[in-house]
Amino acid sequence: MTQRVLLIIGGGIAAYKSLDLIRRLRERGATVRVVLTRAAQEFVTPLAAGALSNERVFTDLFDLDDEREIGHIRLARDTDLIILAPATADLLAKMATGQANDLATAVLLATDKPVLAAPAMNPRMWSHPATRRNVHQLEADGIAFVGPNAGEMAERGEAGVGRMSEATEIAEAAAQLLAGLAPSKTGPLAGRHVLVTSGPTHEPIDPVRYIANRSSGKQGHAIAAAAASAGARVTLVSGPVTLNDPPGVTVIKVQTAAEMLSTVEAALPADIAIFAAAVADWRVAAAAGQKMKKTSDSAAPTLTLAVNPDILKSIAKRTPRRPALVIGFAAETDAVIPHAQKKRKDKAADWIVANDVSPATGTFGGDWNTVHLVTADGVTSWPPQSKDDVARRLIEQAAAWLAANQTEV
Ligand code: PMT
Repeated sequence: MTQRVLLIIGGGIAAYKSLDLIRRLRERGATVRVVLTRAAQEFVTPLAAGALSNERVFTDLFDLDDEREIGHIRLARDTDLIILAPATADLLAKMATGQANDLATAVLLATDKPVLAAPAMNPRMWSHPATRRNVHQLEADGIAFVGPNAGEMAERGEAGVGRMSEATEIAEAAAQLLAGLAPSKTGPLAGRHVLVTSGPTHEPIDPVRYIANRSSGKQGHAIAAAAASAGARVTLVSGPVTLNDPPGVTVIKVQTAAEMLSTVEAALPADIAIFAAAVADWRVAAAAGQKMKKTSDSAAPTLTLAVNPDILKSIAKRTPRRPALVIGFAAETDAVIPHAQKKRKDKAADWIVANDVSPATGTFGGDWNTVHLVTADGVTSWPPQSKDDVARRLIEQAAAWLAANQTEV
């Protein structure tokens, strides 16, 4: 990356991560200019941002020296990418309504360059209908998003979706945008919203141990990428994986099944929902607050499990805001098709993509998959192919179904 980045730091506790972001962007070869909003200066200082960026820091629309030397119009244009991090609920609302009453918002309104927003706010603010509307509007305006992630908030006892992405994640998303890997806005799914789950979930036993499974997220991430290439606005709700975020996709990272369910619900409405995640069926009923210690007699502890919510089933059985096409996966080790047919009915899915996950197949974590598409009309067995090809074919068929049924959300 040898490009120029303008980093606008909004006023939130996550602003401290933006100082690290300056370093990460510079490590990748970018030059970084920083604009601090008035609220941001309550959290980080112009001195710190200036020292890390090695550039002058801009704070005031009405600063005569700044305006004479560079000016907000040049700040907005003499850059290759603008990053807004943390993108607070207030900044998103101002952007969505075209307000320009300070330097940050004036730059955002004056720019003709790509803008990447990294939201950070309390989970209730993130899921509030006003913020949902604003994000929807901004995505339609071509603003790219990275995060927010799920997890603990700075406020004591608060957890959910709203944590700003890590500096490395934002830098990676910026690199992809700078490489021109923005989402296609044309294609059979242009104007549609596709929601995808991917990866495993981690269910805590104690603060250092968890229950998980072997899902790598390759299949789910490939589906999200294929949907973005088909022109859709894509929300990918991912459990812990080591994959890069697919370009042009809003990725929300979660740990547990409960977080995945609430995140999926907050992302509705969607035209198509595809559940490729390998969600843990059980969690430890009462995860320990401290690391569990071995007892002196080395007796193994007994873990009492509780049943996790079934995300696919609860979304497929919703009456308001049920996606028009709900697609689940079935990971089976025997009687693949009969089990998948039963799952389709039990979980009220429209389609089930059944795959054999016996260890010999290498499906978990591998690059290839052999699947059967199970619908109300019957079963079609697809030849062995790469997970990318499975994803493309599934998205093509889903787009064709949607076009034939002309469903509006
Ligand atoms: O991630 P990879 O390494 O690329 O591997 C891909 C895959 C094998 C994980 C993927 O292709 C796959 O099969 N995903 C579904 C795995 C699974 O959990 O299957 P299941 O048969 O247990 O669940 C059936 C469906 O219900 C799935 O759509 C699952 O997402 C959903 N489910 C399951 C349990 C639960 N509590 N909530 C759910 O939504």
